[in-house]
Amino acid sequence: MLKKQHPVKVKLVTDVWGIWRTLKEARRNVLSIIPKLATLQPIVSGKTAWVQWHMVMDPDALQHILRDKLDDYPKSDVTKNLLEPAIGDSLFIAEGAHWRWQRRAAAPVFSPRNIANLAPIMSASADAACARLGDGSARVDMFDEMVKTTFDVISDVTFSGSDSIDSDQVHIAIEKYIDQVARVSLFDVVGVPSWVPRPNRLFQPNALKQTKAIADEAVKDRANRGPRDVPDLLDLLMAGEDPKTNRTMNAAELRDNLLTFIVAGHETTALTLGWALYLCAFDESVQEKLYAEASKVLNGRTANADDCQTLTYTRQVINETLRLYPPAAFISRTAQKDDMLCDRKVSPKDTVMIPIYALHRHHQLWDDPDAFDPDRFGEGAKHSRFAFLPFGDGPRVCIGSQFAIMEAQIILATLVSRYKFERIAGVDPDPVMVVTLRPEGGVQLKVTKR
Ligand code: HEM
Repeated sequence: MLKKQHPVKVKLVTDVWGIWRTLKEARRNVLSIIPKLATLQPIVSGKTAWVQWHMVMDPDALQHILRDKLDDYPKSDVTKNLLEPAIGDSLFIAEGAHWRWQRRAAAPVFSPRNIANLAPIMSASADAACARLGDGSARVDMFDEMVKTTFDVISDVTFSGSDSIDSDQVHIAIEKYIDQVARVSLFDVVGVPSWVPRPNRLFQPNALKQTKAIADEAVKDRANRGPRDVPDLLDLLMAGEDPKTNRTMNAAELRDNLLTFIVAGHETTALTLGWALYLCAFDESVQEKLYAEASKVLNGRTANADDCQTLTYTRQVINETLRLYPPAAFISRTAQKDDMLCDRKVSPKDTVMIPIYALHRHHQLWDDPDAFDPDRFGEGAKHSRFAFLPFGDGPRVCIGSQFAIMEAQIILATLVSRYKFERIAGVDPDPVMVVTLRPEGGVQLKVTKR
């Protein structure tokens, strides 16, 4: 039988590298320091400089780290120190009691009902994307388009709608802020072991100050004015209260968490959509099946929250995209206690890395792992829960995962129902993890109106 052609992938390391080569490569592409072995073995350990590290790909061990022994495997200090100037001690980096109360207070923000209420903003952004695409074009960078589209969504569900602040000003501030923080995106820092060299000055203090000032103003304005008719993430977070301690977020905590949502949620969702469109162009039969579903369910309309239940194949394509190109391709923890992972001794201070990219392409966990096959996520298909971790798992699982999935379903189904996406010879994207798992060179596609 002819083996299925594979979509683009990262070249994993097969030889044993010296430290200088490793560091040099890591600066260019973090994924390239993942050894090929990580797709074949349950655990790979090593020592680089004085840091003992373990890459873990065994689902049981991952459950242990992420769910059962959460307190023994906190996020690394390096993450915290680097990100605090930008996002404060917010949900993404806080640990222990300070993380727990914030998580409990923020949980209702992302309830299915609240997310569904925000879906019209997602549908409007999908329409705006179609308006930009117009009648189509011989070459469009669809990753760039998806960055614009998800930016519309995230800025409209966070600080927009204040009377005293011009919404363009909010957009510009958020854009500048993302530009700054993107250089040390959450996952880059979380993922990159502490020994990888980093630029000395990560943020321009002025740009951060300005954004925070605008965000503070928006929080103040909202406190005076009360919630919008349809509560957005800021309103919901303001109403959030930890049921255990009755604590609510003060203005600085609200600001920091909103900024965290922007950084954690915007580019990740754009990447999911950009890669999904590349894959649709890569495999035309998948695109046709997606088109058949979208045109049947939508019948010319723009997708909305109610459609998401019915758009099951769209959901499968999104899951398979997240498997092949997980935006957070690498997360890591620092061990606090002596422990055993897959029969290997782990000591306090060891770096425990979870190379989600390698986990999702592991030969013992997935059949023909580099092949694109949305049927892996079809009804009745089974995979081990901890073998598929695009959003992490356990108590620190991504709080915005349902929001992101709904947004991706609405935008992907709407686009595919109206346009056909085709590859352009010789310009396939190159998966590079500089910040997140990005398609270098963009996702250049021929776009034709249906
Ligand atoms: C496809 C899109 C997304 C992906 C792939 C993604 C991925 C992840 C992953 C892997 C984690 C866990 C990190 C770790 O354990 O070290 C995480 C956490 C988080 N994500 Fe997402 N995310 C996405 C969208 C969003 C959105 C839309 C939001 C908010 C609007 C968001 C907010 C957060 C927050 C606040 C955390 C920290 C939660 C905690 O520690 O309690 N993410 N995300």
